Amino acid sequence: MKFSSRNSLINKSQTIAVSNLASDLKAKGEDVISFGAGEPDFPTPAYVCSAAADAMEKGYTRYTPAEGLKKLRQAASDRFADDYGFRFSEDEIIASNGAKQVLYNIFQALLDPKEEVIIPKPYWVSYSEMVKLADGVTVFVEGKRENHFKLTPDLLSSAITDRTKAVLINNPSNPDGRVYTEEELLALCKVVEKNDILLISDEIYEKFLFDDLNFKSIISLRPDLKDNLFIVNGMSKTYSMTGWRLGFGFGNKKLIANMSKIQSHSTSNPNSVTQYASLKALQNSNLNSLIKDRCRIYEKRRDKMLAHMDKVEELSYIRPNGAFYLFVDISSVLGRNYKGEKITDSVRFSEVLLKEEKVAVVPGAGFGMDDYIRMSFVLPVEEILAGIDRIEKFVKNFS
Ligand SMILES: Cc1ncc(COP(=O)(O)O)c(C=O)c1O
Repeated sequence: MKFSSRNSLINKSQTIAVSNLASDLKAKGEDVISFGAGEPDFPTPAYVCSAAADAMEKGYTRYTPAEGLKKLRQAASDRFADDYGFRFSEDEIIASNGAKQVLYNIFQALLDPKEEVIIPKPYWVSYSEMVKLADGVTVFVEGKRENHFKLTPDLLSSAITDRTKAVLINNPSNPDGRVYTEEELLALCKVVEKNDILLISDEIYEKFLFDDLNFKSIISLRPDLKDNLFIVNGMSKTYSMTGWRLGFGFGNKKLIANMSKIQSHSTSNPNSVTQYASLKALQNSNLNSLIKDRCRIYEKRRDKMLAHMDKVEELSYIRPNGAFYLFVDISSVLGRNYKGEKITDSVRFSEVLLKEEKVAVVPGAGFGMDDYIRMSFVLPVEEILAGIDRIEKFVKNFS
């Protein structure tokens, strides 16, 4: 069978690949410590599960509008207005099967062949693949490490061409937990306005912010620029609902209508029971304190993780201010030998680490930076510390 040339442009998701490999080893009884997961280790709140059971009992199990229930979009609008003081109308909101499908739909709706999307490195693995699937071209830019790899107005301006359609930022970011300040966002908005491009802000980790930082959606800073800003968000991370599949897109209503059209021919509506349960979750402000408590737990874990990592001389890291990932620089060991084998890239480093020390991490290659690995902190502190000890032993064996 011959497959499409489009298909051959796409790489398999390395985050999912590592998690699967680690789960296979665990299932075989191996003592694996996995830093691979990209999802909260807390359960979906019981209240949300009961709301789903209730929806099933009531028979809310049929097709809904492709773009999601009107009342769900209203609830998403209310929640956004409460959080950020900016109100989207329901026709400026789409509910999709995860933030992933929102992003997929945007590029399908927006891009003609060879049109460009600017993406700062490191980036979440699926962004570039989704642009390619829409026949677009990704233009990667790399900020300075000392500036937490942030996209700056100068970097953005220099990457813009007459084929640029959009720029995509992730705030707070996977894989390195970078968080933009208000001033930085406002400065990016000026470039977006001047060049009349779309800025897509993936804010799925909005509720996971540390160091007393206070998150503001970019649109609340420049409401007048509404047609040039698009917000991506979802239930997965905030409500520990990764498997339920529900994401939201907020933006220009013509773009939303085109995305809904595409969605209507691909998946139709997101799961109806998930929509009803999410509606209840969004309407229940009592869940806010649970979410905050969970965030504080992640922050404590981060602090313990960083303190332990500081003891590993061979490795350095980017200090995350949000999300739940640590991006670790392995360049000091790359090019050196481990038990007679020269390890030159993050994929091989991760494979050998898993094989030898039973620790799963995600290679930085998938995030566009081959001399890094990503370690999440969605596992108990004792495991985090034991995992770092194993990594330390591993890197000390490089000659
Ligand atoms: C930055 C980022 N955006 C989007 C997603 C997709 O989330 P969802 O589960 O809503 O599709 C993820 C999931 O890992 C992510 O890390």
